[in-house]
Amino acid sequence: RAIMMLVPAGPPVDSVIKDLLPHLEKGDLIIDAGNSYFKDTDVRARDLTKKGIYFLGVGVSGGEEGARHGPSIMPGGPKEAYERVRPIFEAAAAKVNGDPCVTWLGPESAGHYVKMVHNGIEYGIMQLIAETYDLMKRGLEMDDDEIGAVYALWNKGELNSYLVEITSHIFPRPDEKTGKRLIDEIVGVAKQTGTGMWTSQSAMELQVPIPTIELAVAMRGMSVFTREREQASAIYQPAGKKITSGHDAFLKQLGRALYAAMIITYAQGMALLVVASAEYKYQLDLEAVARIWRGGCIIRAALLEDIRAAFRIKRDLPNLLLDHDLSQKVIEHQADLRQVVSQAAASGIPAPALMSSLGYLDAYRSAWLPDNLIQAQRDYFGAHTYQRIDTKGTFHTIW
Ligand code: 6PG
Repeated sequence: RAIMMLVPAGPPVDSVIKDLLPHLEKGDLIIDAGNSYFKDTDVRARDLTKKGIYFLGVGVSGGEEGARHGPSIMPGGPKEAYERVRPIFEAAAAKVNGDPCVTWLGPESAGHYVKMVHNGIEYGIMQLIAETYDLMKRGLEMDDDEIGAVYALWNKGELNSYLVEITSHIFPRPDEKTGKRLIDEIVGVAKQTGTGMWTSQSAMELQVPIPTIELAVAMRGMSVFTREREQASAIYQPAGKKITSGHDAFLKQLGRALYAAMIITYAQGMALLVVASAEYKYQLDLEAVARIWRGGCIIRAALLEDIRAAFRIKRDLPNLLLDHDLSQKVIEHQADLRQVVSQAAASGIPAPALMSSLGYLDAYRSAWLPDNLIQAQRDYFGAHTYQRIDTKGTFHTIW
């Protein structure tokens, strides 16, 4: 028997497993298809394996639409257990040109880890889009309908993606109660259920830089401090002077900047998967990850075809920014990202995710970074030692 549960992550999962256990026999299979924390999945898998019960940790993305029309499904756990449910999963999953958006990803928590990073990327892209909204609203003083039209236009080009598409639907939506635009009636405090934070925590643990995703989590945190921000806005004057460069030219730059930052965000997420795969022995096939993200899930985007191609050409690509075609795209768009970031800085409109995407790119393409100084400082105040560029060994100086 195979039992699939979709319940909120954390104690509810353990509680359902506890309720199920008295009714189960050896060889039965429990599938946890919620957004469980990957380390919890490993513990549950170990406990259940001891009892002779199979356990699959399965990420599912796609929200309500995905539930009706097919989600992207990210299974991890014993392969033989996946094979038992494969026909059902393949039938249920979203299809891209007939190809189901599901595949076995790896052992243990591989599926939940990949889903967690999917959500981290989701956070990053949502924050980037929100910043472009702010730059249009406060920077260019555009109204909601005009802003919605820009996203609709962007969705027809290289930015084509589910998140840009739904954004274009959100802006023109009237509020039944007031007759105004609904978007302006929504309180600007972002909630979260943990997956973005877990992605940041895991990246910190594995020492993989994912600044755009971390910034997105931090900015949800910033949104909560409404009172303090009100006080600060009285002290510092409200953020956001009008952007003075040409309206149409800036809009074009903004779309191109968003595209560059989106590539950089996927690059960060995929780079985290590369390291996690080695650390946790998931043996992830990143081409397959990109393939099953092309349909059904929240971060589906035309760009995923290019990402898939990059991993098809080089299975062990450590970072998408090293891929030939994607790096060309970043090179072609980076001047626009720079322009948008400098305009945002000059006008005081917060664009930290766009800024840190650019910062990541600039750091990643720097063969030299000033960390020799950090090593010298560590050695100065704490005798932490340093390595020399000309001699092997460990050195300490009485500074
Ligand atoms: C998905 C979504 C889904 C859920 C997120 C929202 O892929 O279908 O990511 O998993 O809507 O958990 O996350 P937050 O509540 O943290 O924004």
